[in-house]
Amino acid sequence: MYNNWESLKGDCYGCHSCDLANGRTNLVFGVGNENAEVMFIGEGPGEQEDLQGEPFVGKSGQLLDKYLAAIDLDRNKNIYIANIVKCRPPHNRDPKEEEQEACIKWLKEQTRLIRPKIIVCLGRIAAQRLISPDFRVTKEHGTFINKNGFYMMGTYHPSALLRNPSQKPEAFEDFIALREKIKEICTRTY
Ligand code: URA
Repeated sequence: MYNNWESLKGDCYGCHSCDLANGRTNLVFGVGNENAEVMFIGEGPGEQEDLQGEPFVGKSGQLLDKYLAAIDLDRNKNIYIANIVKCRPPHNRDPKEEEQEACIKWLKEQTRLIRPKIIVCLGRIAAQRLISPDFRVTKEHGTFINKNGFYMMGTYHPSALLRNPSQKPEAFEDFIALREKIKEICTRTY
């Protein structure tokens, strides 16, 4: 357990707990306000994220930033963004179970330090890992559940929306629902 960011980051940036470490250009720790009430969790870094060391900076990140801006959220101000795995899986394949298992300790420590009220899972991998192993994004997106003291919601991954733009209105509704939940339970976000 860590009680400060410096020691957590120090150990995480040196991590070699799984083979993904061997292929990384940069470890992608997370970005945002360390006192945020709202956390977004993706699956793992892609090519641009690996090159730049920041989550969601490629095409899907640009789309995410638009959805965030629509409800007055900003990665540099009032939210925190991280991923289930911190190193890029080769060819953007899904992170394997054992890679997720090896890496999840870092996300748990980040969450313990931030103590968010709301956690939004971006896509199936994060939602199945954090909400429920049989989570179906198409059926359960936008629904808040209370788990381990957090309000948790899963929505479409921005990459999925780039592949299937017809799902964008549903995803947008999820962000509107998020805005309402923030207004209801958060005191520092808006
Ligand atoms: N997709 C993710 O799940 N996370 C990122 O950081 C980038 C793309």
